[in-house]
Amino acid sequence: MSTQAVIMAAGKGTRMKSDRSKVMHEVAGRPMIEWVAKAALDAGCDNLVVIVGHQREVVQEHLTRQFGDRVAFAVQDPQLGTGHAVFCAVPALRDGASRTLILSGDVPNMQPETIRAFVAAAQGSTLSVMTAVLADAARYGRIVRDGETLRAIVEHADASPEVRAIREINTGFYVADTEFLCTELAKLCAGPADNAQGEYYLTDLVAVAAAAGAATAWVLDDVAQMQGVNTRTQLAEATAWCRTRINDAWMDAGVTMLDPRHTYIDADVQLAADVLLHPGVQLIGATTIGEGTTVGNGCVIEDSHVAQDVTILPFCHFEQAHVENGARIGPMCHLRPGADIGPQCHVGNFVEVKNSRLDVGAKANHHSYIGDGHIGARANIGAGTIFCNYDGYRKHRTTVGAGAFVGSNSALVAPVSVGENAYVAAGSVVTGDVPKDGLAVARGRQRNIEGWAKGWRATNED
Ligand code: UD1
Ligand code: MG
Repeated sequence: MSTQAVIMAAGKGTRMKSDRSKVMHEVAGRPMIEWVAKAALDAGCDNLVVIVGHQREVVQEHLTRQFGDRVAFAVQDPQLGTGHAVFCAVPALRDGASRTLILSGDVPNMQPETIRAFVAAAQGSTLSVMTAVLADAARYGRIVRDGETLRAIVEHADASPEVRAIREINTGFYVADTEFLCTELAKLCAGPADNAQGEYYLTDLVAVAAAAGAATAWVLDDVAQMQGVNTRTQLAEATAWCRTRINDAWMDAGVTMLDPRHTYIDADVQLAADVLLHPGVQLIGATTIGEGTTVGNGCVIEDSHVAQDVTILPFCHFEQAHVENGARIGPMCHLRPGADIGPQCHVGNFVEVKNSRLDVGAKANHHSYIGDGHIGARANIGAGTIFCNYDGYRKHRTTVGAGAFVGSNSALVAPVSVGENAYVAAGSVVTGDVPKDGLAVARGRQRNIEGWAKGWRATNED
């Protein structure tokens, strides 16, 4: 398919009550405009022009990062309605492209196959509009027909009660003869914006084409795809559908979800077969999870790579972390950027790891902070161990050698290193390097005072 396309994305989205441009609101981890642009490109559109206005720098920067020069931009400022929006894109249209596909930037779930089928069906008509029949037509533009013949689109704000009773609506997707589009938009925008919203409606062109007997409608059956997002409620509805589609695809690929309705997977996540996801799991951004790994209740995993056969117990949070095969993590463990957990390691409850490598089989099972460190193979970090990595100005490194044993409630004051197979006695504050195979004891020696407690009670309880 060789079709030029424009996407309307300049509006502020007043009904979202947001500081952010409406089309930058996310559905399953991608801004809505990215979904629409991707669908257009995947459908085979070339010369894709996105009409930007409100917060255009943000929209432009995002799309350029994602799609490079496959996307061009036209600016609409001020935003005077959808007809005016497309009119602003006219100078960016390619000479000689006989047809132009117009897409709405706030309809994130439209699928490339649907776009392709619509464009094919629109062959030969001057203006074709994609419609759908809804149980509740809400505030969508109504499709007015005369018998079977398409006559006009009437916006909800301008519609009489009889017209509002029509259940066939405008999805906001059109294919137009490019010459017709350019001529008629120029006329539309030269006149007054004479309607309830005081805007230049793109939809007014349907009546113009219909009068010449050259307008057609193409009815979309899968109505979930055309959910337009104008409010937060519609954003939630569109997101729910998108999530269902993502989850179904992963289940088809061999992933088990104990409760798919409460499993949240972003569009760019990659999962292998036999991954098991418990309820309330949220997988965000560029996360990948390997074969046979189980993710427990309520875990949030963001931009992280988890390998095969890893067990993640409930309520862990990972950000930009890396976990290798067979590790066991959690419950309630926090892996921060640069956490690099080797094969068969155990990282247990209330352990926070940042910018640190644990080699094969190392363990830190309870209540620890491991920051800017390297822990050798099979070393054991006792409960409550803290890597004191920060002096108020700079971060320093701690290394613990292979096979070493750090006793509970120790503080390792960086920069410091504990040698291979060495021991640190529980409760130590270690400020100097510990030699290989040695023992560091760095705490007050215990003394017992016989009978002291009895005397204390006697003084206080007369
Ligand atoms: C529009 C249609 C309506 C249809 C619905 C489908 C018109 C007049 N109405 O209504 O018939 O049922 O979509 O979802 O077209 N935009 C601009 N510049 C503007 C105004 C809007 O670029 O000046 C963009 C918006 O960013 C948005 C899209 O056009 O992506 C649609 O605008 P919106 O205000 O949401 O129109 P609706 O009221 O939803
Ligand atoms: Mg809309």
